[in-house]
Amino acid sequence: MNGKEPNKGSLSKKVLSWHKLNGRHNLPWQKNINPYKVWISEIMLQQTQVSTVLPYFKLFIKKYPNIKSLANAKLEDILELWTGLGYYRRAENIYKTAQILKENYQFKFPKNYEDIINLPGIGKSTAGAILSIAYKKKYPILDGNVKRVIKRLFAIQGSANNDSNLWTLSESILPNKNNDIFSQAMMDVGSLVCTINNPTCSMCPLIKDCKSYKLKLTKIIPEKKKSNLIKKKKIYLLLIQDYKKDNFILMKKNNKEGLWANLWNLPSFSLKKELNNFVLKNKIKGKVKVFKNFSHNLTHYKLDISVFHIKLSNKLIIKNYNWKNIYDKIAISKPILITFEKLIKEIENANGNVR
Ligand code: ADE
Repeated sequence: MNGKEPNKGSLSKKVLSWHKLNGRHNLPWQKNINPYKVWISEIMLQQTQVSTVLPYFKLFIKKYPNIKSLANAKLEDILELWTGLGYYRRAENIYKTAQILKENYQFKFPKNYEDIINLPGIGKSTAGAILSIAYKKKYPILDGNVKRVIKRLFAIQGSANNDSNLWTLSESILPNKNNDIFSQAMMDVGSLVCTINNPTCSMCPLIKDCKSYKLKLTKIIPEKKKSNLIKKKKIYLLLIQDYKKDNFILMKKNNKEGLWANLWNLPSFSLKKELNNFVLKNKIKGKVKVFKNFSHNLTHYKLDISVFHIKLSNKLIIKNYNWKNIYDKIAISKPILITFEKLIKEIENANGNVR
């Protein structure tokens, strides 16, 4: 190939044979496969790596082995299971979808594109993944990994190229059978070989077809996002520890909308001044100390988090706030989980590791 278009017809064969030897075969959602498991795994895998998803998926399927058990679950319980996985809107969409499957589909996952794409939290790529992996239908996918493979394979440069072109290309290389394996294989090529940095082109089944490889463009395709364009936000969290019981913390349940909707949260402020005012206004007695500083990436911005700590010296009641036991299973965000993990270590160290 001389920087010409790849020969689309032979691509899928190469990808399929590569997958036989080099793809991922023992993932838990590939065993005793059914549309329910494929759906849950594909939602969990949205913007999340396989290694992160594994323990969550196993727990989820153990607790909710089928659509019926899930449809009878409370949102609160699903959110609790999601703690630390991020993008909590996904858990809410799973809950909503389960209700729709109960009301309209007799607890059966639908089989056609129109029905599937209309379910909450399912976009075009997830629909394609479900239709191909669960039902072996000929549908394209274009998640982050596959998008990178397609862009490199066809040397698509610049962000001006909209996704509709990429969808057409993704569709153009589909095989006529083995679409379940092909989808998985393309995602595996993307995450195992055609990585963002230092792709291992020598191991790639598409090396002879890859226009970027031929033209030495793999470093600049896809275009890197400029890191100085990533927006930053600051938040201040207040970890108020009960005056008697070290493991009881003052928390408030977030609203139904916005960041970390419906999750339990610490008192949270965007300015340090607001935190100080909260302490004064509620006559909170105890020394305010720095507890932990860390950052947390969200989809559109980076959060700089400063956690301050107060060990109360007397009883405190604040309207709309509850005392929660950090050892209880409650739905919390990753930053709160990180904060609690540190607190638990400190408590256990102080107590000589006895609870
Ligand atoms: N990302 C999205 N779906 C995936 C899958 N089935 N396997 C690996 N990574 C994925």
